Amino acid sequence: MTQLLHSDPTQAPSPLFTTTLSLPGCDADAWVVVDSTVNGLAMGGTRMTATVDPAELAGLARAMTHKLALADLPIGGAKAGIRPRGTIGDRDALMRTFGQVARPLMQGGVYLGCDQGTTQADRDTFFAAAGYNIASVPGATRLDVEWSQFYRTMSDITGFGVATAALATLDAQGVRTSQRVVLQGFGAVGRAAALHLVAAGHQVVAVADVLGTIEDPAGLPVQQLIECTGTDGTVDRGKLPSSVRIHDGDRAWLKVGADLLVLAANADAIDESAVSSVRTGIVVEGGNMSISKPARRMLREAGHIVLPDVVVNVGGAALTGTIITGIAPSGLTTPQLSAWLRDWIASKIKKNCALIQELSASGSPDPVAELLTDRNIAL
Ligand SMILES: NC(=O)c1ccc[n+]([C@@H]2O[C@H](COP(=O)([O-])OP(=O)(O)OC[C@H]3O[C@@H](n4cnc5c(N)ncnc54)[C@H](O)[C@@H]3O)[C@@H](O)[C@H]2O)c1
Repeated sequence: MTQLLHSDPTQAPSPLFTTTLSLPGCDADAWVVVDSTVNGLAMGGTRMTATVDPAELAGLARAMTHKLALADLPIGGAKAGIRPRGTIGDRDALMRTFGQVARPLMQGGVYLGCDQGTTQADRDTFFAAAGYNIASVPGATRLDVEWSQFYRTMSDITGFGVATAALATLDAQGVRTSQRVVLQGFGAVGRAAALHLVAAGHQVVAVADVLGTIEDPAGLPVQQLIECTGTDGTVDRGKLPSSVRIHDGDRAWLKVGADLLVLAANADAIDESAVSSVRTGIVVEGGNMSISKPARRMLREAGHIVLPDVVVNVGGAALTGTIITGIAPSGLTTPQLSAWLRDWIASKIKKNCALIQELSASGSPDPVAELLTDRNIAL
């Protein structure tokens, strides 16, 4: 029987378990936090920062429970953390040791992917050390796909989901004209969302990276911009067309006239102090916790439509979740499976965006909390 196992929703939130890992020979602390399981399965990313601790991981693992449950995925939420005590010496050795130590958890149903501070190469290293291969998990062995081709074609999936949320909401609002879009963050998520929004006929009038904001009220050449952007999401100012304007300074993107704002960068990009500067009708929270909780409420009260992170940026997690849990159907070629998964993920995001809209319109002070409470999920 499918059953979500998590802490008592009537009690203060606490994970199902927190495991402290010793990493022999490595100068680092590490933990795996499992907030909930379904049929013994849980999943989440591996964060490596100088400050990560079990309390932060517990919040992130709980957010994974929320995200996966709202997408109707039968798998619980988890998160791993690695906190180097100084500079990382031998990174490969650190990842190998992490994989060796976390092996019983990974082999036992706790999927650990990448997160802030860890790369796909790190994940490959700790998967190999743990003897973990997603293609060998029961849900995946039925699939006849070429895995590297599959992952290449799906590398835009989180940005695709973020764009899907925006497009579905515009559609529900009866908007049929090209909209001016500002993207705060031009990394993996921002770039993919930009391409999907432009493909749907909208115009990106500004993008922001960690250095500032690049604007063209007539529409930025997104493909050209991507070609002068590094893998870390920083745009090379020296390669920009002369038509663009460059604004330095934090939050210059808030001053750009637009209809749709997509946040795909840091936490608290919009906090209470920034709410009155938001000019777009719709704000899409593509990045995790891009809007502070009080700011979300203030934006809704001021009449903005807010599409929350837990609903819109589930794409990457949902992709892995559908495979691990066996939702992804067998008998399809790689392109057919990719198309099926895009449709499945888009349908969940659209459904949740519509529910959020309905609850907001009926005056709910916290639509996400209401959706979770309806499903008996601890907040
Ligand atoms: N990559 C995914 O699949 C995924 C999945 C779920 C959630 N997220 C979340 O989405 C957000 C973006 O992820 P990503 O993978 O695209 O990251 P990334 O590291 O590839 O890119 C981050 C972008 O944000 C910019 N940025 C950072 N600080 C900024 C600031 N203060 N102002 C303006 N721009 C700033 C960077 O310059 C870069 O362009 C993060 O919050 C991440 O946790 C990502």
